[in-house]
Amino acid sequence: MRVTFNANGRPVEADDVWEGESLLFMLRERLGLPGSKNACEQGECGSCTVYLDGSPVCSCLVAAGQVQDREVRTVEGLADDENGLDPVQQAFIDAGAVQCGFCTPGLLVQTHDLLEREPQPSDSDIREALSGNLCRCTGYEKIMDAVRLASARKCSNSSEVSQ
Ligand code: FES
Ligand code: FES
Repeated sequence: MRVTFNANGRPVEADDVWEGESLLFMLRERLGLPGSKNACEQGECGSCTVYLDGSPVCSCLVAAGQVQDREVRTVEGLADDENGLDPVQQAFIDAGAVQCGFCTPGLLVQTHDLLEREPQPSDSDIREALSGNLCRCTGYEKIMDAVRLASARKCSNSSEVSQ
């Protein structure tokens, strides 16, 4: 079947999609968007997290055919040509929260969503929001630092804009 949808603000279509194919497979193998990672393919690790119509989902658990006429935003779509990396992406780099990087795309999307909903999250808010994203390398403290840093920068940017 053919699936037509919007990926990172652009209309895209994928041909010869089979019925059991996941959104994750279609993004990575057919559409040249390998940012979302396939670590477990069972909804357990969060490495494949993308936005679907504005809400984070595990793309390994979404059938490709389900995204017909819908909006998908991947980790690649957090950055833009005009402004470069999203503050969340930059904060993960600056805080040293990236080691092997396999968990990072999912954490970036989930953190981006958290800060859209709650610009100044508490540590327990952060832990809860990221509880479905597993990391085997960092011990999570650098990730906590990165989220706090992104929150602080976003809040200081928005207070500068409003002055
Ligand atoms: S690859 Fe989708 S949750 Fe692990
Ligand atoms: S940086 Fe390796 S799994 Fe998180």
